[in-house]
Amino acid sequence: MTRKPMLNVAAGQTGKSIPVWFMRQAGRYLPEYRALRATKNGFLDMAYDPVAACEVTMQPIRRFNMDAAILFSDILVIPHALGQHLEFVAGEGPKLEALEKASDCKKFGFDRFDETLAPVYQTVRNVRQSLRDENFDEVTLIGFAGSPWTIACYMIEGGGSRDFMKVRMAAYEDPAGFSALIDLIVDATTRYLLKQIEAGAEMIQLFDSWASVLDAHEFRKWVIDPTKKIIAALKKDYPSIPVIGFPRAAGLNVLDYQGEVGADIIGLDSSLHPQRVRDLIQKHLPVQGNLDPLCLLAGGSELDRHIDIILEYMGVKPMIFNLGHGIHKDTPIAHVEQALKRIRAYTIQKA
Ligand code: CP3
Repeated sequence: MTRKPMLNVAAGQTGKSIPVWFMRQAGRYLPEYRALRATKNGFLDMAYDPVAACEVTMQPIRRFNMDAAILFSDILVIPHALGQHLEFVAGEGPKLEALEKASDCKKFGFDRFDETLAPVYQTVRNVRQSLRDENFDEVTLIGFAGSPWTIACYMIEGGGSRDFMKVRMAAYEDPAGFSALIDLIVDATTRYLLKQIEAGAEMIQLFDSWASVLDAHEFRKWVIDPTKKIIAALKKDYPSIPVIGFPRAAGLNVLDYQGEVGADIIGLDSSLHPQRVRDLIQKHLPVQGNLDPLCLLAGGSELDRHIDIILEYMGVKPMIFNLGHGIHKDTPIAHVEQALKRIRAYTIQKA
């Protein structure tokens, strides 16, 4: 056992209580985030400023004493560092200069990659230092990246999408060209994550936000295989750094994912009943999840009830409590406090 509950769960061990953090815990629902954000020109400006990004990473730790700090950055810095134009338009989300076809990724490369991402690695070093300086000895620093499929979605669609038709068609119409794009993202992501670990990230999460839009064959090709390559490369150099794989809303495909990609922990969205999670997934691996962010937004007795169901079923075996997706920007601080109080009051009954 270490002093860090997150790392203990990754090793399949539990203490008396369940570690907890929330995806997007550094963000707009926090007044201190909005205040700092207002002093910056834009989101990217803040993400590439190692002092501001460190500050924002620390905000939810200071306020709530979460068990994990997650590096403040974005999954889209990878296409950006490879040379794709990226901006965050207020109120609209990310906008990239969309690729016409997957094979056009040939124009991207590593010329300015390390230089563009250097501030992110500095943020990681700053956060480790701040955690030490402020005596958060039990807090684990999570580094992260998007999974290749989700990054390819944004590179080809140019932003969010209702049905991701362009990217799915690109994969069917030119599998070789699409494979070249995925390989490029695998290489870039591996290099990026290795450097995050070198800088001090103690755990890694891979976000596959759009794993839900693929059929089972395409899921294997574009989610399982590339994710497996990245995790294998990380494990070769850093076998003891745990990896959380988060194939959001992947349905039953999550069963193949958990058995094959080599992740240490499986992140789950809210669609799976905690009893199924226990019976199908936790018998193999520790899990992370899976409260509906809208339940947290709503608060009240339903919030307590949903937390209790998760703890009742998933709390028996190693788990990290989290949301099933990022926290909603209008979430009241009081609801976050209510949830944390309830989760922390729970004492693990050993199976
Ligand atoms: O606190 C944390 O979780 C760490 C930081 C983090 C951000 N984005 C900051 C952010 C993390 C881990 C991400 C991951 C991310 N980014 C994902 C995967 C998780 C998911 O939500 O599915 C995705 C798909 C993105 C891409 C992205 N970035 C979108 C679609 C948007 C716009 C939507 C929105 O919420 O505004 C962003 C912007 C973004 N990334 C914000 C933050 C805090 C909000 C921007 C702002 O402050 O103006």
